[in-house]
Amino acid sequence: MAVILEKVELAENIKEIVVDAPIIAKKAEPGQFVIVVVDERGERIPLTIADYDRKAGTITIVFLEIGKTTMKLGRLGVGDEMAHIAGPLGNPSEIPENETIVFVGGGVGIAAVYPIARKAKQAGNEVISIIGARSKNLLIWEDRMRAVSDELIVTTDDGSYGRKGVVTEPLKEILENGRKVDRVVTVGPAIMMKFVALTTKPYGVKTIASLNPIMVDGSGMCGACRVEVGGETKFACVDGPEFDAHQVDFDLLIKRLGTYREEEELAKRLFLE
Ligand code: FAD
Ligand code: NAD
Ligand code: FES
Repeated sequence: MAVILEKVELAENIKEIVVDAPIIAKKAEPGQFVIVVVDERGERIPLTIADYDRKAGTITIVFLEIGKTTMKLGRLGVGDEMAHIAGPLGNPSEIPENETIVFVGGGVGIAAVYPIARKAKQAGNEVISIIGARSKNLLIWEDRMRAVSDELIVTTDDGSYGRKGVVTEPLKEILENGRKVDRVVTVGPAIMMKFVALTTKPYGVKTIASLNPIMVDGSGMCGACRVEVGGETKFACVDGPEFDAHQVDFDLLIKRLGTYREEEELAKRLFLE
């Protein structure tokens, strides 16, 4: 059982919760995730550890209410318990030294990129962050990202705040201007990560993407999270979730994310009725 200690509505359908999980908090590192089961009859879903406080024994999760399980989680309040939480899972992010790193976060992926950017900054790297949301009212964790970045660029698709456009536009400009960039790290929708990879590839800049396939056990047993990287099958939960984005077959990832769309739509409809 994991008790929710704090809950904040960050934006429409995006919630931040602080969860009492001392064993996970003790070991958590940037880039890792947990598998959550909301109630005894619920499915298992992966969510990134967006922050952790080892002393308080808590972890922070930020999630987008997109289907039945995330909506169920969103209905829990302070003092409520989730049935199960397992973690930390996946490999921690590689944090280099003396590099210039561009972090690209899209939508709720901004919260997942944050702990990686923070640790990279603490390790002495130059951190440039590009964060994007569809609209101003969906932008999250701008202050946190600003605090860990040497430079922060904000985009909104509709131009309601920051630069109008998507995150790949300022990224392309940075690369076109010949600025020294050693690596790019990206988290967000699969389609965004695909275009981040396409943007950096001509410049030969190392690009890491945190993949978000469907997961079930999160421990390398079920194969639900298989992705293709460099022509090989990998399990995102144990081999990732971060991979060389230039080697990832994003079209296959996007196709596989749609495998159960009809069932997911039905489950959501029945839940909301
Ligand atoms: P489902 O019933 O599974 O339905 C979701 C449907 O919405 C699917 O068809 C899916 O393809 C589609 N979909 C997903 N994203 C979008 C989108 N942006 N726009 C439109 N359609 C979309 N999610 C978070 O919110 N926060 C996290 O920190 C986070 N971390 C993750 C870490 C990992 C390692 C992985 C693999 C995934 C992570 N996700 C995160 C995604 C999250 O696990 C899923 O959104 C969740 O499982 C959905 O469950 P559900 O039952 O609510 O929705
Ligand atoms: P969204 O659809 O609102 O998109 C956010 C931003 O991404 C946009 O504002 C835009 O700047 C950029 N973007 C989108 N499509 C693009 C394209 N074709 N080209 C260039 N840029 C583009 O995002 P959302 O609804 O908040 O979804 C967030 C996603 O992040 C979810 O799909 C979730 O699964 C994923 N996620 C993954 C992890 C992980 O660890 N892999 C962690 C957290 C979230
Ligand atoms: Fe089962 Fe990765 S989620 S093998």
